[in-house]
Amino acid sequence: MEFKNKVAVITGASRGIGYAISKRLVVEGMKVYCLSRTKPAELVDGVIYLYADVSKEKLVAEAVARIVEPVDLLINNAGVMRRGKYWEMDEEKFDLVMSVDMKGPWLMFKYLRDKLAKGAMTLQSNSKNSVQMKENTFAYTLAKLADLDIDKLVAKDRPDLDMRVAHFGPVDTLLEWTDYSEVEKAEKMKIAIQPDAAADWAMKLIRSDQKSLVYEVESQTYLLV
Ligand SMILES: NC(=O)c1ccc[n+]([C@@H]2O[C@H](COP(=O)([O-])OP(=O)(O)OC[C@H]3O[C@@H](n4cnc5c(N)ncnc54)[C@H](OP(=O)(O)O)[C@@H]3O)[C@@H](O)[C@H]2O)c1
Repeated sequence: MEFKNKVAVITGASRGIGYAISKRLVVEGMKVYCLSRTKPAELVDGVIYLYADVSKEKLVAEAVARIVEPVDLLINNAGVMRRGKYWEMDEEKFDLVMSVDMKGPWLMFKYLRDKLAKGAMTLQSNSKNSVQMKENTFAYTLAKLADLDIDKLVAKDRPDLDMRVAHFGPVDTLLEWTDYSEVEKAEKMKIAIQPDAAADWAMKLIRSDQKSLVYEVESQTYLLV
């Protein structure tokens, strides 16, 4: 896609993978809006930070109302993680994950419906868990699976959209270490990549003609497919 003077909206660019992607989009010449509840410790010049909890309809509506230009790229990236198999999860954790990771993308599509430019690109920060059906992250996997179907349902209304999905593997962020012991974290750190590297892969997907980026568990590498 052409980046120069185009407009991107990204959720959850206050830290982690989203923050790293937002820096790259600005360097490419895009005007970038970020929706999150906090701002990064180090603001990125060229990013307009809009306050929003993506799980709250009123806040998403208010934030999106401040975006005046047609949007060329929407990145549904905001997310939370709570671990546990289906019999281990409590209602509070289940509701939190579903409200941010599944309801959030729906609300973004709903309120950006009339602002997404014809042929705009959309990108999900999805997970390998939805490819592998990981059962030890029941709510998270379920939400990420639902996000794939949200794309399909939105595409019925907006077949012009160029929808992309990044199935990331382990990335060294706050989200990834949620509900992990120090021992589990140390083990996973051996294969986790840094947010900058994940953002580089996301940019490769955006620049490519491929629809998805998939982390292969066995080889610990990424493929554009
Ligand atoms: N890290 C991994 O290993 C990994 C692997 C696969 C997929 N992913 C996906 O990558 C995406 C980014 O995660 P990350 O790893 O970069 O995690 P992170 O560093 O914890 O960042 C999460 C981002 O989501 C935002 N967020 C959380 N709750 C929100 C809410 N209610 N409303 C608005 N924004 C909210 C946070 O901003 P505020 O707290 O400021 O609101 C933050 O900017 C997620 O969708 C995640 O599922 C990550």
